[in-house]
Amino acid sequence: MKMKAAVMYEPRKPMVVEVVELDPPKAGEVLVKMSATGICHSDLHFFAGDVPTPVPVILGHEGAGVVQDVGAGVSSVKKGDKVVLSFFPSCGVCRFCLGGQPMLCDVGSASPLGTMPDGTRRVHRVQDGSDINNFSMISTFAEYTVAPEFSVIKVDAQAPLEKLCLLGCGFTTGFGSVTNAIHIRPGDTVTCIGCGGVGLSAIQGAALSGASKIIAVDVHESKLALAKKFGATHAVLSRGDVRADVKEIRAITDGLGSDYALELVGGAHMDTTAAIGYRAIRKGGTLCLVGIGATSIKALPIDPLSMVMLNKTVKGVFYGQAQVKGDIPRYYELYKAGKINLDDMVSKEMRLEDINAGFEAVIRGDEVVRQVIRFS
Ligand code: CU
Repeated sequence: MKMKAAVMYEPRKPMVVEVVELDPPKAGEVLVKMSATGICHSDLHFFAGDVPTPVPVILGHEGAGVVQDVGAGVSSVKKGDKVVLSFFPSCGVCRFCLGGQPMLCDVGSASPLGTMPDGTRRVHRVQDGSDINNFSMISTFAEYTVAPEFSVIKVDAQAPLEKLCLLGCGFTTGFGSVTNAIHIRPGDTVTCIGCGGVGLSAIQGAALSGASKIIAVDVHESKLALAKKFGATHAVLSRGDVRADVKEIRAITDGLGSDYALELVGGAHMDTTAAIGYRAIRKGGTLCLVGIGATSIKALPIDPLSMVMLNKTVKGVFYGQAQVKGDIPRYYELYKAGKINLDDMVSKEMRLEDINAGFEAVIRGDEVVRQVIRFS
């Protein structure tokens, strides 16, 4: 079938919104008509070339839509079901999925190759039939997508997909990193570095977990103001000076440092943001690295002496260590109960045709948390 999609032919060059050909779903796959997709900061890492991906490619990995058709053998969803798309495929049968770590799935690990699980692609250029690469096996910057059955999670028929699309990546990554990967006791202190979509979600998780002090750190005043709305108790305007930022965080935590810190930015300056987080935690504290760092960063400035002598823990946390099949419906229940706020995370809605302007806004960084593309 023909559909419109935003194709990236080269990093840093505007994406081309054009008509492409989409194959029908094969066995174990699902055709989804997209309702909404967020423009996530991680898309920017690939758009900017900080993290390479094969081109041409249709980016987009934070989406939700309605099932239109299913391939042979699909049993968990049917035509008409509302679904959230998980950005990291988890097959459900490899040793990692079975061991309770679907974010380490062997099939998911192959998703950067730009293909579906069987090694082939579903989208082609109409001009010459050549393949366009998949992204995260879901490529949501398009009117339709064909995804593996295990990448779609059925949600309630009443669910507002233009909000729930955030559960496919950003919200789950941030909220899960705080509620799955660490164990905040009521009264603990938490530093959240970066107040974009992932950061605000982490802040919500820290607030729900009973943290006494939630210190938001960002380079933009506007993001810090928003962070307070989501539960941050203190704000530190970072000037990229590790020493100065850490001094402020320590002053807020009675000179001790916080129990936990989370690096929620990634990108080309992750060495700086991670250093702030490492030095901001108290002795015995834990730093979670959540942001996707640029491949240009080969090492982090963390001195081994203090790590051992102060018994500090640094851990990588991918996709909020989420069990998406269970966590995403659970988050929807929290949303319905008014315990998490997705509505205010969406700062702007737009059409697919406006995608390049949307990316420019993400690059500027200070105007928007999440822009959501809506499809009619
Ligand atoms: Cu994302």
